[in-house]
Amino acid sequence: MSANPKSLAGYDVERVRRDFPILAREVHGKPLVFLDSAASSQRPASVIGAVDEYERLHHANVHRGVHQLSQEATAMFEQARERVRRFVNAASTREVIFTRGTTESINLVAQSYARPRLKPGDEILLTMLEHHANIVPWQMLCEEKGARLAVAPILDSGEVDLAALERLLTPRTRMVSIAHLSNALGTVLPVKRIAELAHAAGALVFVDGAQAVPRMPVDVRGLGVDFYAFSSHKVYGPSGVGVLYGRTELLDAMPPYQGGGDMIRSVTFEKTTYNSLPYKFEAGTPNIAGGIAFGTALDYVTGLGLARIEAHERDLLAYATESLAAIPEVTIVGTAPEKAGVLSFVLQGVHPHDIGTVLDREGIAVRTGHHCAQPVMDRFGLPATARASFGLYNTREEVDVLAGGIRTVLRMFR
Ligand SMILES: Cc1ncc(COP(=O)(O)O)c(C=O)c1O
Repeated sequence: MSANPKSLAGYDVERVRRDFPILAREVHGKPLVFLDSAASSQRPASVIGAVDEYERLHHANVHRGVHQLSQEATAMFEQARERVRRFVNAASTREVIFTRGTTESINLVAQSYARPRLKPGDEILLTMLEHHANIVPWQMLCEEKGARLAVAPILDSGEVDLAALERLLTPRTRMVSIAHLSNALGTVLPVKRIAELAHAAGALVFVDGAQAVPRMPVDVRGLGVDFYAFSSHKVYGPSGVGVLYGRTELLDAMPPYQGGGDMIRSVTFEKTTYNSLPYKFEAGTPNIAGGIAFGTALDYVTGLGLARIEAHERDLLAYATESLAAIPEVTIVGTAPEKAGVLSFVLQGVHPHDIGTVLDREGIAVRTGHHCAQPVMDRFGLPATARASFGLYNTREEVDVLAGGIRTVLRMFR
């Protein structure tokens, strides 16, 4: 049995919950039990307030005006970039590109870094755990270039088969692109080790950190990765904004991803010269309010402490695993020793969509489906799973409600 949350030094989850207005609402007459943070997490009042304050008092376009409002908006937006830099320990804000989210960050690197370099016969190495966002952009590119996708298999536990991954690294491997934490199974990948293996084979490493960044301290330089992507809306910030981290020398050598305003230094019909990093990759007006409030969200989680959030979620996951494993009809999908935040399961004789629908009537929000990771479902011979995912505001009592809800589902479908 894992530690009781009360013993997690200084982590007062009831106080944390009061920071999230939405958690006070009811769904179908029941208190909301939100167990879908892996899809998108809820926002604390400070984040909602940051959007409100910006829109009421400071809005103007960024990087363009000499007037007061534009300068205020620009300063706030650039402060958010510095917060991101600090949050993941990038060497410079030049390495922090604001994008629409993880998906766009992956497409940016596929199109701008890999596309000009990939030759027929080259390989991009993924794992079987990947979200579709970390499969399809590479697949599209490979089809165009006559290159090949190689896929490292996973074991029955949901761990990546590292020995197989190592064998799949060849002199033709140009990029190894992996999740840091699987959204479908919760497996935490040994990113640092994979980066060492990839680099030894002469390949670069891209990490999809969408699920890891809200759940554990991330140090991009400590991990030794070349690119790292994540989304604001999974780390308690607004949607429509995210980050691509890349090492300066790589980003400097890449052509712009999109053309437009802000990414240029000078334009004539004969020739355009491009802006410096990070603006070279930020064509057009960004999500200004979202970017600023993203910075506020990072301040919020930093204030609570990533290590304490990680410990709290580890306790919840252990408690939930134990509670669900005690129900004989439950099969937990994904049992890797290194897991975080995500509990996928199926119920004997009940389709996951029915589980989700019945739980919803109890006020419990879980995800059901393939979780944008169809190859993972195929690996386990399942069309779908139900997935409970935890955030920094969830409690053991909510896990008890989930277990009760599952017993209700079983009674209904027996
Ligand atoms: C592991 C992983 N990668 C990528 C994504 C895509 O993120 P976004 O939709 O924010 O671009 C998700 C979203 O669920 C995810 O869980």
